[in-house]
Amino acid sequence: MDLVQLRGGWTLVTGAASGIGRACAEAVASHRSNLVICDLDRDRLREVEEGLRRQGVDVLARRVDVADRAAMADLASEVHRRVDAVDLVVNNAGVALGATFLDSTLDDWDWILDINLRGVVHGCHFFAPAMVKRGRGGHIVNVASMAGYTTGPTLSAYCTTKFGVVGLSEALRAELSPHRIGVTALCPGMINTPIVENARRRGAAADEALLASTREMFRKRNYPPERVAQGMLKAVARNRGLAPITAEAWTFYLLKRVSPRLSAALGRALERRATPPSAR
Ligand SMILES: NC(=O)c1ccc[n+]([C@@H]2O[C@H](COP(=O)([O-])OP(=O)(O)OC[C@H]3O[C@@H](n4cnc5c(N)ncnc54)[C@H](O)[C@@H]3O)[C@@H](O)[C@H]2O)c1
Repeated sequence: MDLVQLRGGWTLVTGAASGIGRACAEAVASHRSNLVICDLDRDRLREVEEGLRRQGVDVLARRVDVADRAAMADLASEVHRRVDAVDLVVNNAGVALGATFLDSTLDDWDWILDINLRGVVHGCHFFAPAMVKRGRGGHIVNVASMAGYTTGPTLSAYCTTKFGVVGLSEALRAELSPHRIGVTALCPGMINTPIVENARRRGAAADEALLASTREMFRKRNYPPERVAQGMLKAVARNRGLAPITAEAWTFYLLKRVSPRLSAALGRALERRATPPSAR
């Protein structure tokens, strides 16, 4: 999609109160796109809304749980009373679970599947048909992760959701391309956001020393969400199907193609590096 189409149009960003979502909202606002933003965190969403208004764009901000089908349907109805369709959808809202499969409860599975996978399905389901009907094309970005094509021992549920998002995006891309709607699975590596703080952790992954060292690893990596947002815009402009963001995301992506076994070994090594001896 030509980024010029953003000017005066509308973009939906879910999970826009923090991290990558917030940065994506600010980046599209700098291209003069109006914004529909939603999040669970009402206070931080209001702060983001105020900032976007200062950037000079129109904003519709709602506290919406992406996992809640009825709430997402209501949001879409409200948006489509204002405009025929949005031009860009960024299905970003997501959570993390640090837990082996054996330590994960079924409630954990419901929680993460509902937000990370069903939330993306909801965003596509409620906003894509109007884009098709309007007939002017557009773009959908589904925020996956490098965990959408590589795995680690305490990431089975997270990886399941992100592999799902990659698969959905690939299928949807084929389906929507005749309508000039591009679909991108955005696959960031380690990004400096509060996602680690907000994650659920179980078993050995709940160890405080492990949390501290993971936090430190993300802090040292220091890849800001604003750079992810720039990568997102580039992927939209170039209509990329899958867009790894960060060097490690590219490394795992290329390695998986050349040697899945080496990629899995590297995934295990990366987790081990973040695990202090006390938590092994
Ligand atoms: N930070 C990373 O290293 C990283 C790497 C790869 C992919 N991602 C993905 O990027 C996306 C954004 O993560 P982030 O790092 O910016 O995390 P973050 O915690 O900073 O932001 C996530 C936002 O989503 C919101 N949210 C959570 N559940 C929600 C729900 N049910 N409905 C609506 N909003 C909800 C949170 O309130 C928060 O504002 C996620 O999908 C995550 O899996 C992050």
